[in-house]
Amino acid sequence: MLNIWQKLKKPIIALAPMEEVTDSAFRQIIIEKGRPDILFTWFVSTDGLISEGKERVIKDLYFDKKEHPIIAQIFGNNPDNFYKTAKLLKKMKFDGIDINMGCPVKKVIKQGVCSALIDKPELAKEIILATKKGAGGLPVSVKTRLGTNKNTIDKWISTLIEVEPAAITLHGRTSKEMSKVPNNFEEIGRVAQIIKAKNPHIIFLGNGDIKSVEEGKEIAKKYNLDGVMLGHAIFGNPWLFSKHKKEDLPFNEIAKTLIKHTKLFAKLHSHRNFNIMKKHFASYIEGFAGAKELRAKLMTAKNSKDVEKILKNLI
Ligand SMILES: Cc1cc2nc3c(=O)[nH]c(=O)nc-3n(C[C@H](O)[C@H](O)[C@H](O)COP(=O)(O)O)c2cc1C
Repeated sequence: MLNIWQKLKKPIIALAPMEEVTDSAFRQIIIEKGRPDILFTWFVSTDGLISEGKERVIKDLYFDKKEHPIIAQIFGNNPDNFYKTAKLLKKMKFDGIDINMGCPVKKVIKQGVCSALIDKPELAKEIILATKKGAGGLPVSVKTRLGTNKNTIDKWISTLIEVEPAAITLHGRTSKEMSKVPNNFEEIGRVAQIIKAKNPHIIFLGNGDIKSVEEGKEIAKKYNLDGVMLGHAIFGNPWLFSKHKKEDLPFNEIAKTLIKHTKLFAKLHSHRNFNIMKKHFASYIEGFAGAKELRAKLMTAKNSKDVEKILKNLI
């Protein structure tokens, strides 16, 4: 039977997981405008999900039925916790499980998780196999990078292929490079060839610096990828996957969308600090006369009612 990754039409256009950005509220606003082929939660701790405090952690996995297909992304370094978490995610009716082996943030990799696993191939394999075992048939994928301190992708990709993840998303930089050098699509294209030659069932997506769906499709074609994943391009632009260009939309439409987004955030994610929404205010409201002043006003908002009041005055 085909898994969800194999069922999607190519090129697959995915929305990247982004902590404190792509929560269910924002994802729902995005799919209302025009949907990507697949969505992800941001990375959630496997240790947290099986701890005493799991009730709070599990809130970050909230999704609405209309978000399917949606993949839960998890991280950690204890295979048994991955196994238990996978069982939970299956029960929660996710469409797949993605393991974060790519986050380059220093305080994260110090814990021996995420991209640190690139240098621990045996543990990485054990984690993938434990997740598959607990997943009850859900496809298990991996999101990763070219290496940690240097590009070790040839060895790393062979390690991953051995345990046959359903999909791999590759960012074209090492952890050390963070985002300081251009994303290396040539290298992503080379890896695509290796995967296709060794195991054509593995779905392979490229990620990094893609600004639009059109650009993503061109890149997928040029480098023979099954699809691409877009991250930053969604900031302030839930129309990214729609037929509309944000710059062509009237201010009213942008303001109404921001009000709706803020209200949905308040309704669904009341356990999170309202200040998280301020990142969105800054990116929605830019590129027109008076944007700076309006942003400053929105930064004073303490809740969704304040935001509505400020914006309704201008609609
Ligand atoms: C604010 C923020 C949060 C992120 N959180 C995650 C995460 O939870 N899991 C993950 O795999 N990648 C995370 N990423 C990385 C993105 O998924 C993506 O790989 C990266 O932004 C590069 O793609 P882009 O150039 O299209 O933005 C995050 C990136 C940003 C900017």
